[in-house]
Amino acid sequence: MKKKSIGLLTGGGDAPGLNGIIESCTRTLIQNNFLVYGIKDGFEGIFNQDLIQLTLDKVLGIHSESGTLLGTSNKSSTKGYEEKFLKCFENLNLDGLIVAGGDGTFQALRPFEQKIPIIGVPKTIDNDLSGTELTFGFDTACSVVSDAIDSLRYTAQAHRRIIIVETMGRTAGWMALGGGLASYADAILIPERPFNKEALLSFIKHKQHLQRGFMIAISEGSVAIGEQPTVAFQVSNSPEKERFGGVSELMARWLEKELNWEARHVILGHLQRSHAPTTTDRFLTLNMGVEAAKLVLAENWNKAVVYRNGQIQTAPISNLMQAPRLVPPEHEWVQKAQSLGIFI
Ligand code: F6P
Repeated sequence: MKKKSIGLLTGGGDAPGLNGIIESCTRTLIQNNFLVYGIKDGFEGIFNQDLIQLTLDKVLGIHSESGTLLGTSNKSSTKGYEEKFLKCFENLNLDGLIVAGGDGTFQALRPFEQKIPIIGVPKTIDNDLSGTELTFGFDTACSVVSDAIDSLRYTAQAHRRIIIVETMGRTAGWMALGGGLASYADAILIPERPFNKEALLSFIKHKQHLQRGFMIAISEGSVAIGEQPTVAFQVSNSPEKERFGGVSELMARWLEKELNWEARHVILGHLQRSHAPTTTDRFLTLNMGVEAAKLVLAENWNKAVVYRNGQIQTAPISNLMQAPRLVPPEHEWVQKAQSLGIFI
């Protein structure tokens, strides 16, 4: 009997754990007599018919590496090329497709929901994908943030400085909140809770006489009440064109001027995406990969593997295609920060 063939695609910005998904899906499917093909560079690999066969020796041990064996892209989309995309996919003669991606990737797959047999696996360091309460890559990114704040606190205290640590996250503050909380930052600023400038100044002023250093975790999309986010530049062919960045530097200069307290800023940038996956992310991708492969074996298409109520579950893939999941302004983690006396 002819073996069935499954394609595996990683789309959007890379996130630690993508290789774990590739290894666990491939191993489970090969065990079950499937042929597995990796699609190169996200959707571009479908348009360019660029595939590699994934064999055991190619995937063995890659779970511990960041990046993605297949390459990815956060610039390619299917918009305006829907017919071509469908044709190109049909030419590949695959029996189904497993896609690990974020909001851009799943939005781009919306027109094909009933036309291509797909299984979705949610991925993003931003943790803002709808339909799931956790995405892989988030735990690793948070650990980069908290490690940075914990170590920068030493130099802040040595020099009596404010240090502002800027995280990624676009419009979602999960990473600054998670990483800032885990490192007990003195202030955590997220886009979902625009901050009051006067209140922030008076909070820091009060601390100036009580402690030598002051640590701020700020998400790149954060704003003061009534102000606009700091856009660093635009990527013209990207589905989400604006790249946020630079708010921490502006804040450092502003705080120095207002408080006469020396300030420095650190932008963590892509370090948050490139760290080796934590054990939590490895378990998550191992489990999600096996579950995604099981959905393939059951031919239970147009489903996604999601994390809800502390468990991995199955949901309609359309659940991943909604608007981004932002931090509810009164989220439990916000309340925990308030209990600790953190400015948020
Ligand atoms: O969505 C993931 C993300 O890392 C965001 O947190 C960040 O704003 C953006 O991608 C950066 O994109 P690029 O890799 O194009 O610089």
